Amino acid sequence: MPDVTLCKVGDVADGAARRFDVDGHRLCAVNLGGRLFVVDDRCSHEDYSLSEGEVWPDECEIECPKHGSTFSLTTGEPQTLPATRPVGVYGVRVEGDDVIVALP
Ligand code: FES
Repeated sequence: MPDVTLCKVGDVADGAARRFDVDGHRLCAVNLGGRLFVVDDRCSHEDYSLSEGEVWPDECEIECPKHGSTFSLTTGEPQTLPATRPVGVYGVRVEGDDVIVALP
């Protein structure tokens, strides 16, 4: 699993999502109270960008902007239809000021 530097700590505002394109992967990073989660930016239902959707901090989920499926940021599993397949979830760690993601 190659590790790549995704961004700097602070590049994603608390409670927000942001898209990053690294090494051919389209990723969605979400900051919940200083904890970063990274999932595939591509909805598993159709090709829409999850980072443009709404973040649900209490549920630790993000909502697809197109048809409203919500995805767990910890498991990638869809919590509501129409999506039925999970999105990828990536391991994240912070080194100094860098946010490092483990890619498959
Ligand atoms: S494209 Fe995401 S729920 Fe349809």
